[in-house]
Amino acid sequence: MQDKLGVVRFSVSLPPSLVDEFDSAWKSMNYENRSKAVHDAMRTFISEFKWTHGEKEHVAGAILLLYYLDKPNLLKRIMEIQHKFRDIISSTTHIHLEEDKCLEIIAVNGEAGEIRNLAQELMARKGVKQVKISVVAP
Ligand code: NI
Repeated sequence: MQDKLGVVRFSVSLPPSLVDEFDSAWKSMNYENRSKAVHDAMRTFISEFKWTHGEKEHVAGAILLLYYLDKPNLLKRIMEIQHKFRDIISSTTHIHLEEDKCLEIIAVNGEAGEIRNLAQELMARKGVKQVKISVVAP
C-alpha cells in the first residue's frame, strides 16, 4: 500500500524478544520513532548486501590502511597499486602516525568488485598491518 507521500506501510511478524531488543536499541540511540530506525536498518542491510555480493554495484566510502615502513619498497608498491586503481580512488590522505608508522585514508567510489580487488591487493603486501573498509551504497 502506497500513500500520497510516497511511503509504503507494511506489517511484519517478528518474535517479541527481537522487537524488544530493537526498540531498546533505537530508543537508546535517540531515534524519534521506529520507522526511522527500520528505514536505517534496511539501508544498512541493502548496503551490506551490495557490498558483499555485488560486483558492478556502485558503492562509495573509504579504505583505512595502516602500515609500517619496515619493508623495502612498500611505499612504492602501495603507490603503484593506487595508480592502478586510480579510476575508483577519489583522494588519499596520508597521516604520519609515528616515525615509521603511517595511516592512509583512501576515498573510494566505484564498483564493489573493484574496491574489493583494491583492498585485497593492499592487504597482501608485506608491511601492511591492517586494512578496514567502510562503504555505503548511495
Ligand atoms: Ni607517513
